[in-house]
Amino acid sequence: MPLKAIAFDAYGTLFDVYSVGALAEDLFPGKGAQLATIWRDKQIEYTRLRNMCEQYADFWQVTGDALDYACEALEQDLTPDARDRLMGQYAELSAFRENAEQLKRLQGAGIAMSILSNGTPWMLDQAVKASGLEGYFDHVLSVDTVKRFKTAPEAYQMGPDTFDCDAGEILFVSSNCWDICGATWFGYRTIWLNRYGLPLERLGVEPHRIGSSLQDVADYAVELIT
Ligand code: LAC
Repeated sequence: MPLKAIAFDAYGTLFDVYSVGALAEDLFPGKGAQLATIWRDKQIEYTRLRNMCEQYADFWQVTGDALDYACEALEQDLTPDARDRLMGQYAELSAFRENAEQLKRLQGAGIAMSILSNGTPWMLDQAVKASGLEGYFDHVLSVDTVKRFKTAPEAYQMGPDTFDCDAGEILFVSSNCWDICGATWFGYRTIWLNRYGLPLERLGVEPHRIGSSLQDVADYAVELIT
């Protein structure tokens, strides 16, 4: 199928969430890495539980709830100021170094691009601005519109609905392997950005391509349109 568009996951894929862990280490010396891991795992776990039980609450709420849980689990006192600073990091994430150049390349090749993320419209808007990636995306799609998190079909359906094409004509990009598995099952063409050298999820489904940076995404997309 021809390539019509690219849909990018946000956190960890376009925006580097490393700074969140670094701030956690500053605030809770010796516990930062563990806290960041529990925080992220709980955040994703809560999106799944809320999907399964049809108890949607937006990603900002879920992210805050997961942070509260992580601090209590590690017996760390989360002051209101520390909470504000950690949550605020999500609004100030930087982009991975190669992003702007590769997005420019894709834009120059005439490929339509969007973000398709669990983040709220506000969170995504802030992250796009803070990372200097304004002007590259034709659409910033937040699952808040459909009130279902990825990997629900309703969330992935936003891509084909927006670009008015089949999912197979859209290249879906994520650094989260679970997201890539969901998107592949849904019918997207997929590339997993395995930025951290992780093993493939054992779910009986594989991405169409595996890369390690946005340059691999741009190379693959250009290959698909030529
Ligand atoms: C997102 C998270 C899952 O942007 O990375 O949707």
